[in-house]
Amino acid sequence: APVQVKKICCIGAGYVGGPTCAVIALKCPQIEVTIVDLNQARIDAWNDKDFNLPIYEPGLEDVVRAARGRNLFFSTEVDKAIQDADLIFVSVNTPTKKGGVGAGFAADLNYIELATRQIAKVSNSSKIVVEKSTVPCRTAESMRTILEANSKPGCRFDILSNPEFLAEGTAIDDLFAPDRVLIGSLQTQEGKDACESLRSVYANWVPTERILTVGLWSSELSKLAANAMLAQRISSINALSAICEATGANIDEVAHAVGYDSRMGNKFLKASVGFGGSCFQKDILNLVYLSETLHLPEVAAYWKQVVTMNEHQKRRFSKRVVDTLFNTITGKRIAVLGFAFKADTGDTRESAAITLIRDFVAERAIVNVYDPKVVEEQIWLDLEESIPQPLAATKKQVVIHKSALEACKNAEAVIIATEWKEFLQIDWTEVYKHMNKPAFVFDGRLIVDVPKLTEIGFKVTSIGRGD
Ligand code: NAD
Ligand code: UGA
Repeated sequence: APVQVKKICCIGAGYVGGPTCAVIALKCPQIEVTIVDLNQARIDAWNDKDFNLPIYEPGLEDVVRAARGRNLFFSTEVDKAIQDADLIFVSVNTPTKKGGVGAGFAADLNYIELATRQIAKVSNSSKIVVEKSTVPCRTAESMRTILEANSKPGCRFDILSNPEFLAEGTAIDDLFAPDRVLIGSLQTQEGKDACESLRSVYANWVPTERILTVGLWSSELSKLAANAMLAQRISSINALSAICEATGANIDEVAHAVGYDSRMGNKFLKASVGFGGSCFQKDILNLVYLSETLHLPEVAAYWKQVVTMNEHQKRRFSKRVVDTLFNTITGKRIAVLGFAFKADTGDTRESAAITLIRDFVAERAIVNVYDPKVVEEQIWLDLEESIPQPLAATKKQVVIHKSALEACKNAEAVIIATEWKEFLQIDWTEVYKHMNKPAFVFDGRLIVDVPKLTEIGFKVTSIGRGD
């Protein structure tokens, strides 16, 4: 029969584990939730008395304030939290492999395996183990083999797949009212019982019809499929934006007209300087690798093109900047507004801004950067990793500023790289006064009022519009 879950352990206190399990604690006061991580600094930040949490996410602080110390705990005592729990979420990172077999494509499952082995080693009682991280198809099978081979007598492990669909910047809203919660299990009685145990946790706040239960492998593949199809929409609209620029069509008008078709829908059709974030690229490459190992080269090539198009979009944009500034930006000051991969997050993983700045630095421009949320230290870390020169040299070319206006002073061009709301409020007349002339604006997010800026005197270039 299904176990009634009383204690939950979440391994991994990152962008997924932290918000997801904090919301479970908030919505299920009868369940004790402990989120553990090996990273002491991260756990300390989750426990910070002034609530300077390790990640920025609208609404997250309120959730943590309400539940922390009541039934929500953050700790580095991984073994104890595993031992106490009836249900364990594995929310560790699964980055793209950097070396070895499948390098550059396959997911690195080392963190998953280490966490799984730890569960097997320290557990003294039966557990439901939930794969929350995004993983290749059939990872649950490997986890089960490892757990069963190392379990103590009398300990049973049931494995579930429960991928996470939250988007950064809206994580709390997404968790409070998810489109769906997906739970995959083996179709055995034990599998179905475990599935029911987890279902009844979510049923505390998610309407029953939104909790979908499927087989394990379908669940694992659905996560990769969802991200691949979302990213494919962006690459499709971005591919069309190139045609717009060459023909005088306007990509916003095209997206609007296309999205009006109820079969298509109007969401997720915003042309941009390219998608970023820790997952789209990683998960598509993972799907490409899976397709290749299954001897499906055409399928692999199909999905690979989504990433190729995204790279092309970023490169096309930085080339357009150089072309427009009379084919040289050497020694010119370029203001880049926004460093995060999207608005309302401090996360910079795979952000398009990083690629743009790398390209501008290679052209020997001076780059002024401003982002409302990304901390300076993170910007230097990202630039050190992406620009093939010593950080000291980069620091001679890149300056980080405390406001958009500051960043725009004496610049030849302003680049909008992230769609932060505060950029809608920029006093462009004031900015214009402080810029060198002709003053250029390159809108990588389609947020500026082109006629208004043109009237002020700017020369505006937007994605998906002819000059
Ligand atoms: P993250 O890097 O922010 O967090 C992972 C955490 O796990 C790190 O803090 C790390 O120290 C910890 N960890 C690793 N191994 C551990 C171990 N053995 N014991 C204890 N802690 C350990 O990653 P994330 O962004 O939260 O992503 C986690 C997973 O969720 C990935 O598979 C990702 O694809 C998936 N996902 C991410 C998002 C997102 O928006 N970021 C959304 C949906 C799914
Ligand atoms: C994405 C998915 O939306 C989530 O459902 C999924 O859970 C998550 O990946 C994951 O698996 O990690 P996330 O990457 O946080 O979430 O953010 P998105 O809102 O999807 O944006 C991704 C990138 O696409 C951003 O750079 C964004 O600016 C860009 N984007 C998005 C566009 O360029 N145009 C759009 O219309 C939408």
